[in-house]
Amino acid sequence: MATTAPTSAPSAPTAPASNASHDKAAAFAKGLEGVVGGMTAVCSIEQDKLIYRGYEIHDLAEHATFEEVAFLLLEGHKPDSRELERFKAEIVAERALHPAVTSFIESSAGWLASGRAVPMDVLRTSVSILGHTDEDCQDNSGAANLRKAKRLLAKIPTIVGHMQNVIDGRALIGRELGGDPSLSHAANLLYMMTGRRPSRDEARVMDVSLILYAEHEFNASTFTTRVVAGTLSDMHSAVAGGIGALKGPLHGGANEMAMEMLKEIYASVGEKGIGTPAVDAWMQTAFDTKRKLMGFGHRVYKNGDHRAGILMGLGKKMAATLPGTFGGLAAPKWFELGEQVQKIMMAKKNIHPNVDFPCGMTYFTMKIPVPQYTPIFVASRITGWTAHIMEQHADNRLIRPLSIYTGPAEKKWNS
Ligand code: SDX
Repeated sequence: MATTAPTSAPSAPTAPASNASHDKAAAFAKGLEGVVGGMTAVCSIEQDKLIYRGYEIHDLAEHATFEEVAFLLLEGHKPDSRELERFKAEIVAERALHPAVTSFIESSAGWLASGRAVPMDVLRTSVSILGHTDEDCQDNSGAANLRKAKRLLAKIPTIVGHMQNVIDGRALIGRELGGDPSLSHAANLLYMMTGRRPSRDEARVMDVSLILYAEHEFNASTFTTRVVAGTLSDMHSAVAGGIGALKGPLHGGANEMAMEMLKEIYASVGEKGIGTPAVDAWMQTAFDTKRKLMGFGHRVYKNGDHRAGILMGLGKKMAATLPGTFGGLAAPKWFELGEQVQKIMMAKKNIHPNVDFPCGMTYFTMKIPVPQYTPIFVASRITGWTAHIMEQHADNRLIRPLSIYTGPAEKKWNS
C-alpha cells in the first residue's frame, strides 16, 4: 500500500517559552523514543533476543506452528496436544464470515479497482462490521475478549482471501466454510487467496512468516490498540485502530514498499546490473536525496532484527526451488539483488534490514499480490494485538501522556 506524504507540514515547534514547561521539556523524547510505556508479560525485546511469553523466536520459528504460537500468545502457555486440537477446532469453526461482511467486501470491488481503497482499508472496515456481528462486541470481560480474539484470528484470513477473489474477479473461495477445514491456518490463507492448495514448503514458509510477525511488544500498532483499549473501549475498535496504524509505510506498510523498491531498482539496472556497481549507484542517489529505504532500520534494534535473518534464509532456500520468473526475474535473482542492497546499506549506512525486507521478496516469489502483504501481517499480528488488549483490560489505567505547548502566547479574545 502507498500512503501519500503530507504536502505541507505545520511549522516546526519551537522551544517551550515558559518555565512551567521546563520539566516537561526535560522529559520529552520525540516519537517517545526510549520511553517506557507500560508493562507486559506477552513479549520481551532485547538487542540479542526476541521472546514470546518465555520462548525465543528462533526456537519458535524452528519448532512451533503458527497455531501453537497463537495459543501461547492468547491463552498464555504452551498448549498440550489436547488443548491444541481444541484450539484448532475452535478457529476452523469460526472461519466463515457473516453475510454482512461478505457483502461489504463484494461491494468494495470498485473502490479496490480504482485504488481509492487499498486492501488494508477494506480490512479495517470489515473488522468494524465484524464487531456489529459479534454478540460479545460490547463485553470487555476476559472470557468474552478471548472468544472475540479467536474469532478475529479465524476470520481475518477469510477477509484477506475474499478481498483477493474480489480483486481477481472470481467467485469467493470458502464462502460457506472459510476455506478448507483440513488445511492449517497458513495453508488455508494461501488457498483462499488463490484457489490452489499450496505445497508443503510454501505452507511452511507462510507459517513461519506468521510466527515471526505475531508479536513485537509496544510497536506503534500494538500501542495504538492499548491506547484504545485503555479507554475501556471494545476489542474491535482497538483492532480497527491497530490496522490503521500498521498500514503506514514506516510500520507494517514497509513490507509492500520494500518490494516496490526492489522492483524499482530492477527496472532501473536491469538483470545484467544485479551484482554490479549499477546497484551502488542507484543506492547512492537514494542516499543523496535522503530517501528512506523501506525494510531497513528499526526504532529498537540497533544490531539487526532477529526475524529478518530467519525469513531471509527460508525465503532464499525456497526461491532456489521455484521454476519460472517473477516480474521478469528468476526467484533466486530477487534474493541476490536483495542481499546486494543489504550489503550496501550496511557498508554505507550501517543500517540493518528489518523483518519487512525479506518478507517482500519471499511473498513476491510466492506470487502473493503486493497489496496483500500488510493485510497478511494483520492476519498474524492480530494474535499479539488481542493478547495486549486483554492484558490492558485486565489491569487498566487510561493512557494519557502530556504535551509541550508551542502555540502563541496568551491573548484576549476582545482586545
Ligand atoms: C516494523 O516497532 C516495531 O517493533 C515495528 C515492527 C513490528 O514488528 O511491529 O518491527 C515492524 O514496523 C518494522 C519497520 C518498518 N519500517 C521501515 O522499514 C521503514 C523504513 N525505516 C525507517 O523509516 C526507520 O528506520 C524506522 C521508522 C523503522 C525507525 O525510525 P526512527 O527510530 O524514528 O529512526 P529515524 O527515522 O529517526 O532514523 C535515524 C537515522 C536517520 O539518520 P540521521 O538523520 O540521524 O542522519 O537513521 C536513518 C535516518 O535517516 N535511517 C534511515 C533508515 N532508517 C533510519 N535512512 C535510510 N533508510 C532507512 N530505512
